[in-house]
Amino acid sequence: MEKKDLLTKGKAKELFKTEDANKLVMEFTDDTSAFDGKKIEQLAGKGTVNNRFNNFIMRHLDSKGIPCHLLEEINDRESLVLSLDMFPIECVVRNYAAGSICKRLGLEEGMKFKNPIFEFFYKDDDLGDPMINDNHIISFGWAGEEDIDHLKKLTLEINDYLVDLFLKADLILVDFKLEFGKNLEKIYLGDEFTPDGCRIWDKETKKKLDKDRFRQDLGDVVESYQEIAYRIGVDLK
Ligand code: TMP
Ligand code: ASP
Repeated sequence: MEKKDLLTKGKAKELFKTEDANKLVMEFTDDTSAFDGKKIEQLAGKGTVNNRFNNFIMRHLDSKGIPCHLLEEINDRESLVLSLDMFPIECVVRNYAAGSICKRLGLEEGMKFKNPIFEFFYKDDDLGDPMINDNHIISFGWAGEEDIDHLKKLTLEINDYLVDLFLKADLILVDFKLEFGKNLEKIYLGDEFTPDGCRIWDKETKKKLDKDRFRQDLGDVVESYQEIAYRIGVDLK
């Protein structure tokens, strides 16, 4: 399907219109951003890995009955996706302590939680993606109670499937962020699931293999994404 005008430019992806108003082309760029866009670099090959990585995960989730926006892979960097009316919120699940929860609650990195912790964030870089709760979402009219329950249920189900998938490759899924949207009243997983938006550690060594390598200047960012991809069986061609 032919790519037409640019619809939106994100920090690591661009969305283009097509001749079908219901379908968009999602292009993964090599741009890598952290700290709400304060640190940005180009990492050669990242877009390709992330496109293939995301498609592998979305196909896996789809096979488990989770509705995902992916329609088909077009090439290395581009995929055709369903156009969604996105909720302006981020759904985060944490299995282990890392990142902002450590600062917020004074936790030591690596502590395993008894149960996965679910958190909502408001997607707004200028405000630093602040944490919000169900009441904010309902009061601002972003989603109703039924949709909120559905978003939580889907996110926690996805967590179960992905914890399992990564564990089979001796990898720990520490935490991740998802974004959802609606098409004809049905909720779909949109955006992406790649090492840009999750934390994944080697089970034995606890080596960080995700975007924390970029945030913390640990090096070998794309190589680490490739390692995860290789270990879970993504075909990078
Ligand atoms: P945090 O520790 O910074 O709150 O992030 C938790 C997880 O969610 C981590 O894997 C990174 C991901 N995340 C994003 O990718 N983008 C975001 O805007 C936020 C808030 C989290
Ligand atoms: N994805 C967000 C950003 O690009 C947050 C982060 O990854 O640090 O700023």
